[in-house]
Amino acid sequence: MHTDEGINFIKLDNQNSNSSRLNKPIVHLFEIGNKMNRRPRRNRATATSRGFLKETHLSVSNLVQPIFLVDGKGIRDEVKSMPGNFRMSTDEAIKEIQSCLDLGIGSFILFPAVKDELKDTIATYSKDASNFYLKAFEAIKAKFGEKVQIITDVAMDPYSSDGHDGLVDGDNILNDESLPILGEMALAQARAGADIIGPSDMMDGRVGYIREVLDDNGFTDVGILSYTAKYASAFYGPFRDALDSEPKKGDKKTYQMDPANKREALLEADLDFAEGADIMMVKPALPYLDIIHILKENYDIPIAAYNVSGECSMLTAACQNGWLDFEKAMPEMLMSIRRAGADIIITYFAKSYAEMVRDGKI
Ligand code: PBG
Repeated sequence: MHTDEGINFIKLDNQNSNSSRLNKPIVHLFEIGNKMNRRPRRNRATATSRGFLKETHLSVSNLVQPIFLVDGKGIRDEVKSMPGNFRMSTDEAIKEIQSCLDLGIGSFILFPAVKDELKDTIATYSKDASNFYLKAFEAIKAKFGEKVQIITDVAMDPYSSDGHDGLVDGDNILNDESLPILGEMALAQARAGADIIGPSDMMDGRVGYIREVLDDNGFTDVGILSYTAKYASAFYGPFRDALDSEPKKGDKKTYQMDPANKREALLEADLDFAEGADIMMVKPALPYLDIIHILKENYDIPIAAYNVSGECSMLTAACQNGWLDFEKAMPEMLMSIRRAGADIIITYFAKSYAEMVRDGKI
């Protein structure tokens, strides 16, 4: 501490910081009674001034609602590890979509829960024209047309008897041999009415491969939302319960990314961008806000974040225990993902958020 012109202050040593703003000397006033001409609290004093200060806005149009589909009729089967989320048959899903549309949600990412007897090593059912998942796209499009945007999932795991996203050979997950299967899956989805194909498999080169298959078949307007930086995360557990898609052997670490890595996300993004991804996604969201931020800073296409099943379940469980307040914690969680840079947030809370907006709570 030293004294300068009658004001006591401490000069902080910021020389080691690599932020250009912090490299300027910062003076911290600390003694009660000293003159302070900069008081951040003045701008927080009223709701109106806090409104001017608000840097990030999250609206219902940023949100995508996931839906788990099953074959059958009249089915609404709650996923145990995801209270409030259901595996639904198409007729029930259509009712759910209608209620989301009424709340202003127009985008849905659909996942199939496939019966074990339809699974095999090469995911044959994924491109079967009688596949209930593809039939659901047709029914949804017939009912809602352009009002509903359908985002799909491309990966072998929901259809694979091995429970992996690519073809399995012993202990290996084959890359190039998986691409034609993923390409055919994407094409079948485009034919059934999908608006955006969502490759979640993390095979190298799949975005470019799928883009070419779509273009060669006249689907130049069908987009690709790439799972660009998808981490080998424990937070997918409840989703794998929902779809019964846990790998039968091993883990997904040879294709999904190590949670320790950030620069690798830029490499994945360079490739996906070059291969023609329309939207790039980071997954999970909350433990990877820095990755969302770095992609947003570096690429001029929309950045999505997937607020995954485990993030949803941990919040729901804490709220059910009375440890957190859902109506406060949930919007804060989504806002942090938006603030990090996500233009699009896929979240199991989309409908709840939209209900809070409708009720004037947000
Ligand atoms: C699989 C896929 C997963 C999720 C979306 N697509 C799980 C996995 O990679 O094992 C996870 C979504 C969630 O946890 O909400 N292709």
